[in-house]
Amino acid sequence: MILFNEQAKTFHLKTAKTSYVMKVLDSGHLIHVYWGKSLHTNNLDYAVRRRDFFSFVANTDNIQEFHLEALAQEYPGYGSTDLRSPAIELVYGDGTSATDFRYLSHKITAGKPKLEGLPATYVESEDEAQTLEITLLDKVKNVEVVLSYSVFDKFDAIARSVKVVNKSDDTVKIQRVLSANVDFKDGNFEMIQLSGSWARERHIIRTPLRSGGQCVESRRGASSHAQNPFMALVRPETTENTGVAYAVSLIYSGNFLANTEVDMYNNSRLQIGINPFDFTWQLKAGESFQAPEAVLVYSGEGLTGMSHIYQNFYGKRLMRGYWRDKVRPVLINNWEATYFDFDEVKIKAIAKQASEFGIELFVLDDGWFGERNNDDRSLGDWVVNENKIHGGLKKLVDEVNAMGLKFGLWFEPEMVCPISKLYEAHPDWCLHIEGRTRSTARRQLILDLSRKEVCDYVIESVSSVLSSANIEYVKWDMNRNMTEIGSATLPPENQREVAHRYMLGLYRIMDEITSRFPKILFESCSGGGGRFDPGILYYMPQTWTSDDTDAMERLAIQYGTSMVYPSVSMGCHVSAVPNHQVHRITPFATRGICAMSGNFGYELDLTKLTEIEKMQAKSQVAFYKEVRELIQFGDFYRLQSPFGSNTCAWSFVAKDKSEAIVSFFRKMAEPNCAFATVYATGLDADAKYKDMRTGEVYGGDELMQVGINVPYAITSAPKATDDAKDMYAGMITDAIQGDYGAFIWHFKKVD
Ligand code: DGJ
Repeated sequence: MILFNEQAKTFHLKTAKTSYVMKVLDSGHLIHVYWGKSLHTNNLDYAVRRRDFFSFVANTDNIQEFHLEALAQEYPGYGSTDLRSPAIELVYGDGTSATDFRYLSHKITAGKPKLEGLPATYVESEDEAQTLEITLLDKVKNVEVVLSYSVFDKFDAIARSVKVVNKSDDTVKIQRVLSANVDFKDGNFEMIQLSGSWARERHIIRTPLRSGGQCVESRRGASSHAQNPFMALVRPETTENTGVAYAVSLIYSGNFLANTEVDMYNNSRLQIGINPFDFTWQLKAGESFQAPEAVLVYSGEGLTGMSHIYQNFYGKRLMRGYWRDKVRPVLINNWEATYFDFDEVKIKAIAKQASEFGIELFVLDDGWFGERNNDDRSLGDWVVNENKIHGGLKKLVDEVNAMGLKFGLWFEPEMVCPISKLYEAHPDWCLHIEGRTRSTARRQLILDLSRKEVCDYVIESVSSVLSSANIEYVKWDMNRNMTEIGSATLPPENQREVAHRYMLGLYRIMDEITSRFPKILFESCSGGGGRFDPGILYYMPQTWTSDDTDAMERLAIQYGTSMVYPSVSMGCHVSAVPNHQVHRITPFATRGICAMSGNFGYELDLTKLTEIEKMQAKSQVAFYKEVRELIQFGDFYRLQSPFGSNTCAWSFVAKDKSEAIVSFFRKMAEPNCAFATVYATGLDADAKYKDMRTGEVYGGDELMQVGINVPYAITSAPKATDDAKDMYAGMITDAIQGDYGAFIWHFKKVD
């Protein structure tokens, strides 16, 4: 709900549990007054204070004691009287940069308009959200900024974006246009970021704010493995289940900046948007520029509260399409099983074995096209290699389908290898700068998606393969970051637009291909989780979480990813040991329990499994199918953090609390250690729950307050009933004793 108090010139944005309040001052400046737990009032004038700061802070409009810099700003510019980190920076036709934006008008509408050309959250019916658009004007230069706020009552989230409209006769250069800015009246916060690298994505880092600036950013041409377009400010006392959290997440897949500043009076500022670094947008007279959307979440119920809001909101109003609410298939991917060394005979043998385990989808990874027998060539040449797939793609797909499996295919559509037919024909179609080396990474260059004809080629070449056979899943990979960013066709003044124009091109391609093939399940990937961001999730409802498939490494990766993203968005596979990334040997059952905490699959040569492992795989698939709706669409609770600790635990609870899965992991075996206990969360305290393995019944209150006993050795493991024995066989055999142990429980409500 959006309330406007005409007299106090106050906007009050209300979601189910939060209030967000702004006010237009008599001077026309828009200030931020409050964000937090829901308020009744529509007038917070008493909270707007003035005083003389006896410092270098300038008087706004030369009014004594009136300092913009001492007030919380809603969308600060630069160079007038707020000298803190700006949300917007422009260079006007006369070369100057001071801005002065003041209220011009506003409108409140039902629902939420689409963001042209950009991914964004959406409504399914007009009554799900209201949108407030506030137009600010820099009168001297005749440039407007339209601030848009869509308030999703039920989802408890506010989606914000910004449009710059050039109403002047001159070209205006946009140097910086962030999507959200929030000022707080103190700096007593800790900052949470999701950081890492390839094979180590989205680890949680929590550090106190200090005077000055702290930021995370990407300059890599993708949201990146290193940082995620997210930041939360929490109080030092905020825990997983208690305390406040203020978070911003950007629906964008390119260079971003998430920034904080603590000023000289200990006020803090939180911002997120496109990274201003290496970005200048030429806004000609009459043109407008739409910045991406940021999603603001306040939680008064700790980090779990924050994550639940993001997970629900992104799962239901960012992801779209046929697969959004459908349970996702269990898959087998041949990458770590064969790498480039396969032919159709090998593929069919793995698929055959998979079908015997109840696996539902076979994914043919890299190496099926052009002359690609290793990673040095052929990206761009999307034609099946019949020297490997004898008889062609359609024949193979039909044969795999006949085994009862769907068929999926890997692409890396944004790339071109210098050794390829595409590069021979169009050497200028890649990002490059004339006279500079075209630096390759994994022996590939990036197609210049700022060019329409290049995007059209990608759309048509991928579509033609997808129409040639019954392909029901696509893995969309992207394996390098941008260097020598330049486009052959743009004039010099537009070259600093290329990284953003690339994203617009990519979004158009993804929109077109996913609309042409609405029933295909698309999983994005970028060397694992190098582009696990809300922008891509809008087009593709799942992401390959990390190339690191080691169960112990995955604990931190999946735990960190859950801060923002729903479990249904995370691809998780059981792979071979020694693990190909870290060479660790973990039990098959532990790998299964870890991988079944998202979209479950296998990525190893199933024909090489031992008889015991085959039995385990079959039982894991059967168990996962039994509980996957709960895992993919239930509420996720982080119970024990793997960061800095030897154990990790999490759970999935059905929305109606009728059942729950609890998983526990112990990294290293400990001699003569104390009993371990896991405390469940989110159950119905008054209900009874049956342990589906043993048939024992416990109170919801017991499982949450007294806790669940973790078995410490095989001899102490709870015995499965005769009915449950086969179902649980794959989750216990080798996982309880020794290093890298794991245990899983399934509870169902009983009368
Ligand atoms: C990187 C991906 O993350 C892997 O899963 C695999 O698809 C390879 N690329 C293939 O080249």
